Amino acid sequence: MQPLATEIAVAVIGAGAMGSGIAQVAAQAGHRVLLLDQREGAARAGREGIARQLQRRVDKGKMPQAALDALLDRIQPVNTLDELAEAGLVIEAIVENLDIKRSLLTELEGVCTADTILATNTSSLSVTALGAHLAHPERLVGMHFFNPAPLMALVEVIKGLATSDQVADCIYATAAQWGKKPVTATSTPGFIVNRVARPFYAESLRLLQEQTADCATLDAIVREAGGFRMGPFELTDLIGHDVNYAVTSSVFNAYYQDPRFLPSLVQQELVEAGRLGRKSGRGFYDYADGAHQPEPATVATVSATADTLIVEGDPGPLAPLVNRLRDCGLTVIERDGPGRLRFGDAVLALTDGRMATERAAAEACANLILLDLAFDYASASRLAVAAAAQASAQAVNDACALLQTAGLAVSQVADRPGLVVMRTVATLANEAADAVLHGVASVSDIDLAMKAGLNYPQGPLRWCDQLGTSRVHQVLTHLQQSYGEDRYRPALLLRNNHFAERGFYS
Ligand code: NAI
Repeated sequence: MQPLATEIAVAVIGAGAMGSGIAQVAAQAGHRVLLLDQREGAARAGREGIARQLQRRVDKGKMPQAALDALLDRIQPVNTLDELAEAGLVIEAIVENLDIKRSLLTELEGVCTADTILATNTSSLSVTALGAHLAHPERLVGMHFFNPAPLMALVEVIKGLATSDQVADCIYATAAQWGKKPVTATSTPGFIVNRVARPFYAESLRLLQEQTADCATLDAIVREAGGFRMGPFELTDLIGHDVNYAVTSSVFNAYYQDPRFLPSLVQQELVEAGRLGRKSGRGFYDYADGAHQPEPATVATVSATADTLIVEGDPGPLAPLVNRLRDCGLTVIERDGPGRLRFGDAVLALTDGRMATERAAAEACANLILLDLAFDYASASRLAVAAAAQASAQAVNDACALLQTAGLAVSQVADRPGLVVMRTVATLANEAADAVLHGVASVSDIDLAMKAGLNYPQGPLRWCDQLGTSRVHQVLTHLQQSYGEDRYRPALLLRNNHFAERGFYS
């Protein structure tokens, strides 16, 4: 499908944060852009904002002045809907309100030509519902940019029930032409990103509530072991707790209060306290000048009482950690066994979703120390561990000493099911697998959306394949058993033999 030709004008309605950014993207791609806002002077201010942003690029020598002048010439603030008649594509980025958006779209049908595509940048409303009262709902499509639109690569192209394939395909091709990474999704609550990302915030909020570790420690584990660019607490402080809590609540209610999306009382309290994050000066962290910045809890350096690592059986995902320890000069002996590591008094194993104490009892192995998942054990700088209540102090010492030998900072967290990164990744993969089953989007589009929209180090389904679908299924089953909650029920596709054996990318 061909993208919208550059000679065709694009109209953007709403010149706020998103509308101005979208206008810039369209103008950068060579379109003439008609920018409209109901607030007096807002469209002109939007254009001036774009000029200010890009002038910085010119001043740094990254953009010729002539290119900026030409781009600004292409953006024309207008005052009335009638002036949008010539546009071949109208993108609305006005207030997030169903009735107001509906009445704007109905008015647009009276102004635009029959083949004009109408696009909505809504992040939470149903494209199907927005189009329900249109004479031609087949020409309405979601074109969901991320903030800031000029910098964020992802565009979710959302198909409502009536959206024609031709319209969705044209917008997909146009977004790609504009330098974006488009993905296609059906009009379901949260689309891809705002749905699949919920566990990233929710599981850490739960771990905090359960006093597993403090915010700074959990953030450091997610960043330094999980490979995520930001931890969940610093990220929600940046997003704003009012916004993040509202998205969670809206997705929770839209899915008929499915416990998977249950909002957090911890976050609700922050909102009630007005601690909205960076924008209010305080959220989980305090942003006042000179305020104390908490450090992650890290086990002090301890000395090893052993010099040989015994690898019992296939270490599975821990194999790169074994190699790293070998590279650090440790003697490694391999022998048969259930996939555990022994060092001094410590018996180390990757978490399978059970608490260490419970697993130590089940496996008659008192000195069990569980290791968390790392995105890449070869390069991680931190790892979380949890010790069984039965474990001796010497066993904990030896486990920490072993990991410190590899140069890892060790965060010992309270013994909760699934540790931190494993629990986060398993629940992300679970949500992604359900989105695949429900036909929301393809496997590759879901992974692309999570990488391009949120900078995840890896798509959750690719990650699931690498860990092994059956391992992820096991972690979720153990979480479900530990909590007795439906929240952790494993998605059908993680049970399905086809995927369990061959993976999502077979
Ligand atoms: P904003 O409040 O910064 O801007 C909205 C603009 O629309 C305002 O300038 C307002 O005067 C104007 N407006 C409101 N009603 C109008 C009407 N009937 N006709 C013309 N102009 C009208 O809001 P923002 O953040 O730019 O969001 C706009 C849309 O984009 C919403 O649907 C929002 O859900 C969606 N969105 C927002 C993201 C964000 O991170 N802010 C990310 C992705 C989507």
